[in-house]
Parts: sequence; C-alpha cells; structure tokens
Amino acid sequence: MSAQSQLGSSSSARRVSLDDLRARKADRRRFAVLTSYDATTARWQSQGGVDVLLVGDSLGPCMLGYESTVPVTMEQMLLACGAVRRGAPAAYLIGDMPFGSYHNRLHDAVKNGLSFIAEGGCDCVKLECDARMADVVAAMDRANVPVMAHLGLLPQRVTYTGNYKATGRTEESASRMIADAKALVQAGAVMLLLEAVPADTTQRIVEAVNVPVIGCGAGPACDGFVVVTPDMLGLTPGKVPKFVPKIANLGEAMRDAFANYREQIETGQYPAPEHLYPMKK
Ligand code: KIV
Repeated sequence: MSAQSQLGSSSSARRVSLDDLRARKADRRRFAVLTSYDATTARWQSQGGVDVLLVGDSLGPCMLGYESTVPVTMEQMLLACGAVRRGAPAAYLIGDMPFGSYHNRLHDAVKNGLSFIAEGGCDCVKLECDARMADVVAAMDRANVPVMAHLGLLPQRVTYTGNYKATGRTEESASRMIADAKALVQAGAVMLLLEAVPADTTQRIVEAVNVPVIGCGAGPACDGFVVVTPDMLGLTPGKVPKFVPKIANLGEAMRDAFANYREQIETGQYPAPEHLYPMKK
C-alpha cells in the first residue's frame, strides 16, 4: 500500500518544489525528510509519502564502510544522487557537497554545485558552513544553485574536532550560530539545516530567518525533520544519536532472513520443485 505524500501525490509527476516547502513553513505544516542513497530505498520512501530526500555524505559511513564522511568523493555522491532521483522522480532532492568540493576556489565550488543539479538531478545542494562561507553561498546563488546551509554539528569538521558533539550550548556559541544563520540567509541560502543544536537556540534561529529550517536533533521548533535512514531503521551497528526515533529493527530482520536462507541451502530445502525450470516438451 502506498501512503499519500503530505506535499503532493507521490505518484503524480509534479516534483515537490522549494515553493511547496516555503508554503508549508508559512502554514506551519511540518514535513518529514530522510537521507537516501539508492533507488530502491528512495522508491519505498516515496511510497511512504516522504518526498524530501537528502543524499547525505553519510553515504560514506552508512553505505561505503568509511569511518567518517571525509573520504567521500564527488563521483560517489553524484552516483548516489542519480540513483535516488531515478527511484523518487517527484521528490525534492538535496545533495550533500562532499569534503573539499566547495572549499578551494569559488569557480570549483560553483562547478561542483552545478554538477549536483545538472548531473545528479538535485534541486538544492547542502554545504556545511558558517558565515565565512557566505561568498560561496552567494556565488552558488548567482549560478542558480540553491543552497541549504548546514550549521551546528558539522561532521566534515571532524578534522578539527576529532569528535561529534552538540553545539550552540553556551550563550556565546548560540549567538555566533544565530549570526551565522542570518549571514548565510542574507548571502542567498534558501534553507537551513541545524544538527545537534539545543531547542532554545533552534527556536531563536527559526525566529531570526524567513527560510525553512530542517532539524536533525535540533528540537521541535523546526519546519522539517531529518534523520539518517539506516539509524532509524535499526541498520546501524552500535550507538546512534539519542535524537533518532527507533522505528524499525530491520538489521535483525535482515540477519534472520540471511540465516534462514543459509539454513535452507544447508538442509537441502532449497531449491524445491517450484524453483525449477521444467524441460520443454
Ligand atoms: O550526511 C548526512 O546524512 C547529513 C545529515 C546528518 C543531516 O548531513
């Protein structure tokens, strides 16, 4: 059974747009966002009515076995974006620009941003940033590449921090984040993503800007809410962030299915007569 999308019919051809998300913000109708990395999952997400999808660089740890998001490349991201777009043609698709793809020359940042839109089929790109990146956001905006500015916990900054911790927890850090948010929206960011930020700080940011704010562990004041899909489905080995809702246990379901298959082989139950091709007369 397919659920009705809250933004538009998931079976209709019309793609969810930025204006749809702005309208939802204006009407205070919250929307669900999930990370997605492949066509099959994107199709099921779409059928579940989740039609704002983020191809996160969490692709690295979640799908490619990397320890962090740092090694993820443009090529890997574009491959994943294309697959998710094919699986969910009507989704609003956000592509995460990987480490190093927007930090060097403005020209290279814009060229890579354009590839997400033209080759990857994305509607928007996400940059982990602060006010120092306002020139990159403005250059993207001039090139018609809509930007979502990611603030708060920035996994690509693990090269500095060595760990993943909530930010904006002191008045000084919260004020800096609010100033960053305003500067990035002023530069042209069309949406914000706040990761691991206290609810009060989020509330102040939501009040300070006029663009949709997506929260990832940022409290209830946001317009949209995103989590990493394998964390939510119980597929991630080990600890997941405390803000993730535990909605399914597919890891254990998969392990049991694999064990069942192995047993069927080892006991000779499979292949059974119904699995065989009979000879033609
Ligand atoms: O890469 C990612 O999945 C993300 C989310 C955690 C927001 O950036």
